[in-house]
Amino acid sequence: MSHPTELSLTDHEPETETFLRDVLRGLRLTPKELPCKYFYDEAGSALFDRICALPEYYPTRTELSIMERHAPEIAETLGEDVLLVEYGSGSSAKTRVLLDHLIKPAGYVPVDISREHLLASTEALKLRHPEIEMLPVCADFTEPFEVPTPSRADRHRVLYFPGSTLGNFTRGRAITLLSQMAEACAPDGSCLIGIDRVKDVDVLVAAYDDAAGVTAAFNKNLLVRINQELGGDLDLDAFRHEARWNVEEARIEMYLVSTRRQTARIGGEEIAFEAGEDICTEHSHKYTPEGFAEMARAAGLEVTRSWTDPADWFSVQMLRIA
Ligand code: TRP
Repeated sequence: MSHPTELSLTDHEPETETFLRDVLRGLRLTPKELPCKYFYDEAGSALFDRICALPEYYPTRTELSIMERHAPEIAETLGEDVLLVEYGSGSSAKTRVLLDHLIKPAGYVPVDISREHLLASTEALKLRHPEIEMLPVCADFTEPFEVPTPSRADRHRVLYFPGSTLGNFTRGRAITLLSQMAEACAPDGSCLIGIDRVKDVDVLVAAYDDAAGVTAAFNKNLLVRINQELGGDLDLDAFRHEARWNVEEARIEMYLVSTRRQTARIGGEEIAFEAGEDICTEHSHKYTPEGFAEMARAAGLEVTRSWTDPADWFSVQMLRIA
């Protein structure tokens, strides 16, 4: 697809062979799992935008309200000549609020695995802020990638990671990612991270299993992709979506459950499913302020400021190298 744009895109979109290898590896495990980053093709990113607008899905609007209320103060704390690097930028709704307030930013580097979505959102932001240099990178941000250099030198790097996407990583991998972020913002930058809080289980489960079935469609889109891109023959009607709260791990776990015993072919391989067998497609960890601060410390970061909503449902945390 071509774009009426002068945006210079750095493109490291994952290859089909990588997708196939990851899918087969995950489906041969017991219990089965699939990596959640593959949710986000064009259709998946559009479905995720619909999730963000659902009445049950409180995280997006709560985080947005925090940003709207505190962006001037956040921008002031971040300082002048910032290069803002965002992981998993998606439709960049919260970033728009931040960019409206940043003081003479040196540039904005949105990083996302979904190329068309990345280009469309960056173009929309560019119309609003033609004065800000925008350097989109299509990449899996968990893999090493080079941050493009803006034409005007930046004074501080700010790693922005909203949406509680950090919660989609298990503790060990979250700490690794936080360490990479600490390194990327060194020596004088900061990280700005949105995290979802532990709260009432009914509120949590509803946010991941909405009445309109959009989250179910989003979860199943993984199977649609496998069929379309990897020549799979998964029966979409023989899997159902399920969201469960795991108290010990303080996380929502998302599954696709095989409703019957079946065998599917993917990339020439046979994969067998028992009736009732789960494929785990995502974890979404919820944090207490203490739990998050402790994890950040393990990555060499210190929480210096935090902003929350009146109900304490979500929080935006600012961190620096300890
Ligand atoms: N980072 C989001 C979250 O954990 C991603 C998400 C929301 C998600 N709803 C989902 C991922 C449903 C898979 C399925 O809240």
